[in-house]
Amino acid sequence: MKLGVIGCGKMATALVKGAVSQGVVKAADVIGVARTEASRVRFSEQTGARNTASISDVVKEAEVLILATKPLDLPGIIRSADLENFPDKLYVSIAAGVTLETMERLTGGACRIVRTMPNTPSLVGKGAAAFSLGSKCLESDRDVVQSILGAVGMSVEVPERLIDAVTGLSGSGPAYIYLVIEAMADGGVQAGLPRADALKLAAQTVAGAAAMVLETGLHPAVLKDMVTSPGGTTIAGLAALEEGAIRSSFIAAVGAAVARARELGKS
Ligand SMILES: NC(=O)c1ccc[n+]([C@@H]2O[C@H](COP(=O)([O-])OP(=O)(O)OC[C@H]3O[C@@H](n4cnc5c(N)ncnc54)[C@H](OP(=O)(O)O)[C@@H]3O)[C@@H](O)[C@H]2O)c1
Repeated sequence: MKLGVIGCGKMATALVKGAVSQGVVKAADVIGVARTEASRVRFSEQTGARNTASISDVVKEAEVLILATKPLDLPGIIRSADLENFPDKLYVSIAAGVTLETMERLTGGACRIVRTMPNTPSLVGKGAAAFSLGSKCLESDRDVVQSILGAVGMSVEVPERLIDAVTGLSGSGPAYIYLVIEAMADGGVQAGLPRADALKLAAQTVAGAAAMVLETGLHPAVLKDMVTSPGGTTIAGLAALEEGAIRSSFIAAVGAAVARARELGKS
């Protein structure tokens, strides 16, 4: 696969690094373009891929193009790069809030476009992403997208109307969990643990609990019951969390972020 990258920022660099290290694509078969030379050089240093200052060189060479600029820059780039004249490529957009309908319209209606919503843990190979295939996509495009997103974590396919829900859950979710980790560490510090140890223990506890859910396939409630002995420490902690309305707080947090994503999408 010949991979082109338009916008060589943090997210594109993470995706290419992952794809190269997982053998999805060879570094020599990847070419990226960014606005400034500093970004282009950084991208090549971190991924081993080539770079150019010419968007049209990238478009001509690549079979699959990752569209990874900021959302506001994307429509202008699609127009100026004349993507309409390259309907044989697969376009994978990671730009938040730019709809398939907008991208299909800007590319003349014949292009195969995929909209994705990755999240920042992709930077460390632990991403949780969703994607939606555009109306012209082929069945085989699904495999291509899954292999790229899979190189930096996992992905699920959703109808595009649910992309805002994904934004509110896994897109914004890392920040919710940073807060949880910080607060758990504070609790540890209050109980006398050194700050650095408390943070490590809290973060690894979150990672471990997540791995238990993903790897055992057991419902979180079952796993919770398994570690909650009668009259023990864990049920005392859980009761305190329930007093703080932890469940409804998280449900409301996801709901508020989804509502904001919808609002931003309209503007
Ligand atoms: N970071 C996240 O958490 C996250 C999560 C989900 C989705 N996303 C989406 O991912 C996309 C990229 O985010 P990011 O955090 O990686 O942004 P970023 O680091 O700012 O990268 C944007 C890149 O686009 C390049 N660019 C801008 N205008 C260009 C042009 N006319 N021609 C060529 N390249 C151009 C920039 O080049 P210069 O650096 O040279 O200006 C930069 O390399 C965004 O659309 C965002 O919505 C990000």
